[in-house]
Amino acid sequence: MGSSALALLLLLISILHAGFTRGHKPTVTVTPVSAVFTGETVNLTCVIESYSDWTYEWYKDYIKLQSDGHYPVNRDTLTIRGAAESDQGQYWCRGLKNEGSTDYSEVVHLSVKASPRSTVTVTPDSAVFTGETVNLTCVIESDHSDWTYEWYTDRNSVKLQSDGHYTVNRDTLTIRGAAESDQGQYWCRGQRSERPNSSQSTSAVNLSLKEPVSDVTYSEVVVKKQQSMDKADIMPESTNVTYSEIRY
Ligand SMILES: *[C@@H]1O[C@H](CO)[C@@H](O)[C@H](O)[C@H]1NC(C)=O
Ligand SMILES: *[C@@H]1O[C@H](CO)[C@@H](O)[C@H](O)[C@H]1NC(C)=O
Ligand SMILES: *[C@@H]1O[C@H](CO)[C@@H](O)[C@H](O)[C@H]1NC(C)=O
Ligand SMILES: *[C@@H]1O[C@H](CO)[C@@H](O)[C@H](O)[C@H]1NC(C)=O
Ligand SMILES: *[C@@H]1O[C@H](CO)[C@@H](O)[C@H](O)[C@H]1NC(C)=O
Repeated sequence: MGSSALALLLLLISILHAGFTRGHKPTVTVTPVSAVFTGETVNLTCVIESYSDWTYEWYKDYIKLQSDGHYPVNRDTLTIRGAAESDQGQYWCRGLKNEGSTDYSEVVHLSVKASPRSTVTVTPDSAVFTGETVNLTCVIESDHSDWTYEWYTDRNSVKLQSDGHYTVNRDTLTIRGAAESDQGQYWCRGQRSERPNSSQSTSAVNLSLKEPVSDVTYSEVVVKKQQSMDKADIMPESTNVTYSEIRY
């Protein structure tokens, strides 16, 4: 084979190779389609029209992603579990096969919004005494009103339910006859069927109770009455008078 024939063969091979890979521009589809809320799971799928058995390469903000715990790649899909605001950015992909690769896909911008925040308010907001009724109210910063509320305490990890002691009524947890054992941290979470599905609890409230009775001082003074000699015939039962005082 002459050198010109070899050159032609190499040219043919490279044209075939290019036809096999280059010219395929993948597209990236994202689910969910609209903005992602923190904590949600997002799938980015690299769609290549022709051929199969590609291996996929993903990039975020010019950095090639490794398929580690936070960015597992399963075939054509990159999954982000528990999305954080730091996952916001530009994503793109390409397919690799043998020695070749596809073009890079268009860049897709993933925006991650904070899930609505929930906080807890306590009434009465001043000192709460043991035996009193306390209301904890869940406040969710959101335009949606169709939340169902869940209550938690650091004393056990299960959701608090209405029973004799607790009453859960919409956004309010009522503790009747608060006891020292009710002291601790309380937080709430809202759930709904539409996205955003869940609120994020940004702070827990610390419920502390006071004993209703503070220090008491009891004092008494005994005074002996003066005897009147004129009326000595009828003796009073006692000539002592006791004055006493309780000071809170
Ligand atoms: C993401 O993809 C996985 C499988 O690859 C699927 O089980 C899951 O439901 C998908 N989640 C979303 C939000 O599309
Ligand atoms: C607690 O909330 C209930 C209704 O949810 C209300 O009737 C009661 O007055 C409230 N008590 C306090 C101490 O805020
Ligand atoms: C969250 O909202 C989506 C969209 O409405 C719904 O399909 C999904 O079942 C919801 N998930 C939960 C856990 O409620
Ligand atoms: C809550 O109260 C406990 C005991 O009173 C205290 O040790 C703890 O630091 C408090 N936590 C917060 C977040 O204020
Ligand atoms: C009255 O007081 C005196 C001492 O001040 C005491 O000895 C006496 O027992 C008292 N009388 C009565 C009836 O309490």
